[in-house]
Amino acid sequence: MTKCIREIPLPDLRATEKLGKALATAMEAGLVIYLEGDLGAGKTTLARALLHAMGHKGTVKSPTYTIVEVHVISRLYFYHFDFYRFMSSEEFFDAGLDEYFRQDAICLVEWPEKAAGSVPAADVRLCLSMGQPSEESRVVAVSASGNKGELCLKKCLAAWDAGVSALE
Ligand SMILES: Nc1ncnc2c1ncn2[C@@H]1O[C@H](COP(=O)(O)OP(=O)(O)O)[C@@H](O)[C@H]1O
Ligand SMILES: [Mg+2]
Repeated sequence: MTKCIREIPLPDLRATEKLGKALATAMEAGLVIYLEGDLGAGKTTLARALLHAMGHKGTVKSPTYTIVEVHVISRLYFYHFDFYRFMSSEEFFDAGLDEYFRQDAICLVEWPEKAAGSVPAADVRLCLSMGQPSEESRVVAVSASGNKGELCLKKCLAAWDAGVSALE
């Protein structure tokens, strides 16, 4: 069952970066996090903010062409996927991607719907959409499933509610 649904307005890029920082306080090995929303909604931008907040230095490439980008941060494996180019969800198993979904890794998944039925279920879902009124406005709908996901989201929202000052 999916729980803890909340909609968070992200009026500008800075807010999305702050959400990345809030998420970073809640990372645990084994999490599967879906990043949903249309092209340009900000999925990669949010993943970048999270990885940088975790301490990753340098660029974070979008996995649109490579399907998966690997980042090892403080011995924790982050696998950042983008299934946008999948023609069928079978490609997930054809490419052996199930092997990445381990208990010692964190999987960030853009376009999970393109691998529906193949990709493991999400612990946390973050669904981004364009908001009003400015070009930078976004809204993110957050939800969690299961104990691990609920705990992650609870920590993330607590950090978010505590405000930027507590995160910097
Ligand atoms: N509030 C915001 N949150 C995220 N991205 C934003 C925001 N405002 C503007 N942007 C811009 O929108 C674009 C989002 O692109 P990207 O993260 O690659 O989207 P996606 O991965 O969802 O296709 C980037 O150019 C980013 O700078
Ligand atoms: Mg992307």
